[in-house]
Amino acid sequence: ESYADKVKRDERYSKLNDSDIEAFKSILQDSHSLITNEDDVAFFNEDWMRKYRGQTKLVLKPKTTEQVSEILRYCNERNLAVVPQGGNTGLVGGSIPIFDEIIISLGSLNKIRSFDSVSGVLKCDAGLILQNADEFLKEQGYIFPLDLGAKGSCHVGGNVATNAGGLRLLRYGSLHGSVLGLEAVLPDGTIYSSMDALRKDNTGYDLKQLFIGSEGTLGIITGVSILCPSRPQAFNVALLAVSSYEAVQKVFVGARRELSEILSAFEFMDGKSQLLTSRHLKADHPIESGEYPFYILIETSGSNKDHDDEKLEAFLEKAMEDGLVDDGIIAQDETQVQNLWAWRESIPEASTIGGGVYKYDVSLPLADLYGLVEAASERLSQEGLVDIDDASKPVVEAIGYGHVGDGNLHLNVAVREYSKRVENVLEPFIYEWIQSKKGSISAEHGLGFQKKNYIGYSKTDIEIKLMKDLKEHYDPKLIMNPYKYI
Ligand code: FAD
Ligand code: MLT
Ligand code: ZN
Repeated sequence: ESYADKVKRDERYSKLNDSDIEAFKSILQDSHSLITNEDDVAFFNEDWMRKYRGQTKLVLKPKTTEQVSEILRYCNERNLAVVPQGGNTGLVGGSIPIFDEIIISLGSLNKIRSFDSVSGVLKCDAGLILQNADEFLKEQGYIFPLDLGAKGSCHVGGNVATNAGGLRLLRYGSLHGSVLGLEAVLPDGTIYSSMDALRKDNTGYDLKQLFIGSEGTLGIITGVSILCPSRPQAFNVALLAVSSYEAVQKVFVGARRELSEILSAFEFMDGKSQLLTSRHLKADHPIESGEYPFYILIETSGSNKDHDDEKLEAFLEKAMEDGLVDDGIIAQDETQVQNLWAWRESIPEASTIGGGVYKYDVSLPLADLYGLVEAASERLSQEGLVDIDDASKPVVEAIGYGHVGDGNLHLNVAVREYSKRVENVLEPFIYEWIQSKKGSISAEHGLGFQKKNYIGYSKTDIEIKLMKDLKEHYDPKLIMNPYKYI
């Protein structure tokens, strides 16, 4: 994607020179922590979707908070712009440079600091990979209160920086609730820490909240203290086929009422997303009785398997009797639980089957949620742009899936290449549609570079002004992740 029409390099930022490299070498004291080789740097310059590509010549991998502090202090004095990078799984072009901003990767700051097995409080470095955090917690009988498909690569710090939502927000709530404290380095090198914060603390402003979801624009998160729940003893997963979006909503209402406290996820997927996933995985759909317009994945988790089994079976029986569910399967063992989740978690990758994907991550009132997929599909068809089998068309398919239990739709437009023509058909049409329904243009992925010019669809002028005031207060030289949403 070319940025020339969107943004120009801001000449207030200095260009990297040899003495800067020497200064960073002396801060890091280890040649492996400083990457300048073009091939190695290329990996950090490109995002997961291969949609955005930066031009940095330097990646720094500090091993301590003090090193992060010294790096930022130096960059601030020299007017060198920086981009914090976690696992680089972000989906809005926030984690890569636009021009020559220096990448500060948290990958080497990845230790567990402490775990309190009475309170469930985990304290860790920001660069700890989410899956590693959860595997550690599993051994202690606890669970990380966030799970998502990118868990094998994304960092806990990156999750906090994006306020990731994921597959179990329905049960465990948002990171704004479960994160107890943070350690973060401000652009001038100041180290802010609330790592010892307690569950309850009403002594003034809750400063950590500013960093949760700030997408690397205020400072670099180096440590996270998070409250982790007990790991449920029993998990069940069911995959259901239904024949209308109306039925999806009714099953959701029923699931909350009848599964109640054991309901831990309620995901939906449209038939088109399933077709792409089947093709991508080269596998038959887990429900073999035919193609249905919608599928639902329900997870229950609790403390007593027999109790949960009984509740889930009674719920499904009733839903089938009522004609809401056409077919369904329940995982019979741990492997099948994993397989059904893997099927759901493969959709993002399947959406890149044609080579690229335009992603829209949206909050909408439940009744309107799927209307956006229909509206986008209709518009792409009217323009003659979409065909799943005709390689001469730029668009493969527009699919819908997501965390319907949280009112969060993922509209993914799978494309054969990124093009202005397709983008202009989709944007700002989609953002206008969302605004007309009083939705949010980002439920969980953030704004990053993709939605740089669209924040006004979800925030008022006053809100934007207050955000800019904060940005200028904490980062007066604007070195943190420039050219992005703020
Ligand atoms: P990065 O991609 O490296 O960075 C993301 C942003 O945070 C950037 O702006 C970056 O500058 C900033 N940042 C990163 N680390 C720090 C830090 N230590 N300090 C300050 N700023 C920092 N998201 C969801 O919410 N729910 C999902 O279900 C979900 N599923 C996904 C599935 C797949 C397959 C993929 C590829 C992504 C998915 N995502 C999902 C996107 C999600 O935002 C990321 O996976 C994750 O939260 C980002 O973490 P990361 O470490 O990769 O951050
Ligand atoms: C997911 O829920 O799988 C991701 O957030 C969606 C995406 O990749 O667009
Ligand atoms: Zn998601």
